[in-house]
Amino acid sequence: MTIHEHYPLQRLTTFDTAATARRYLRLDREVEPLLASGLLDSDYLILGGGSNIVFTRDYPGTVIQLAPNSKIKIQNSKLITGAGLQLDALVDHCVDRGLGGGIENLSAIPGTVGGAVVQNAGAYGVETGEFVDRVDALDLHERRRVTLSRQECRFAYRTSLFKEQPGRYLILEVHLRFATEYAPVLKYKALADELQRRGITSPTQRQMRDLITSIRWAKLPRPEEHGSAGSFFKNPVVDRDTYLRLRDAYPDMPEAHPTPPDNNSTFKIQNSELSYKLSAGWLIDRAGWKGRTLGRAGVWPRQALVLYNTGGCTGQDLLALAQAIQADVLNKFHVQLTPEAILI
Ligand code: EPU
Repeated sequence: MTIHEHYPLQRLTTFDTAATARRYLRLDREVEPLLASGLLDSDYLILGGGSNIVFTRDYPGTVIQLAPNSKIKIQNSKLITGAGLQLDALVDHCVDRGLGGGIENLSAIPGTVGGAVVQNAGAYGVETGEFVDRVDALDLHERRRVTLSRQECRFAYRTSLFKEQPGRYLILEVHLRFATEYAPVLKYKALADELQRRGITSPTQRQMRDLITSIRWAKLPRPEEHGSAGSFFKNPVVDRDTYLRLRDAYPDMPEAHPTPPDNNSTFKIQNSELSYKLSAGWLIDRAGWKGRTLGRAGVWPRQALVLYNTGGCTGQDLLALAQAIQADVLNKFHVQLTPEAILI
């Protein structure tokens, strides 16, 4: 275990804001010594690939990060991967071997497998949690190794047990299970439209991966050019009355996806009990923020849900822009936006 003092965090997060950690610990093979090290007795924070976390100031405690890891093994038809592997490398591995129908829809999402599990990262009708069979982690509160089943991980839209209890679990390994037959997931109309445009009728998994990668990169900033944290806000879930009110007032609003109040509910749900997931990108765009900058933080011109670093952006610049957008959207639409990114 090597501990660094006053460690720069800028290169460890994709938003690229300048900040330092009082201490930084990178864990290689041996993780158990952490439990007895005393580092867990004061403030600490677990960092994955840094693609969904923004430091708005220096961090006064210890930042703990697993070393990158490229080990993947197959055991009893389950795929086991270290949490430090990049999610996109996992997707590529699966596509190479014809595993995991649907996982190709998670192509080109930055960050590690562990981070994707914490966040239940998702795109184009697929979420990470769908593939998880179990998670092996260190419970840093109980100071022991634990195994959590998919149900125990409590996956929901962009959240999980690990996001609900930050700092409690250090995810070490993730066991994934897949459907045996490949079928492309085409729930998103944009995907079906683009396939039609390209004249592809029954896409292979590799074709789906290439398609999704190109759609994402057409909309999102290139990480080597501008820092960002992907979607900065979650798509807000509102009740039926709010949805109907907005739909009447704004006929150009994209159709919202109805979601039951509890995804696991098996009871029949009345229409009036449904919630509706609105497009935060559209709300921000419609409020006139697309392409605007405040200080050195900006709203990405091709996708208003993405806030980005125009160059030298500080955490305070970003907070000011995020708060201005939240206040404006609340004022114009009476809808509260909440960040998807974790702000420190
Ligand atoms: N829209 C606008 N203006 C904008 C952006 C979007 O009018 O500036 C409209 C679009 O035209 C569309 C609707 O809003 O009708 C939804 O937009 P889009 O399909 O681009 O997806 P999104 O809801 O903005 C979500 C995820 C993304 C994921 C895409 C595709 C969240 C918070 N974001 O974005 O995930 O890639 O769907 O599945 O759920 C991420 O979480 O970091 C992320 C990139």
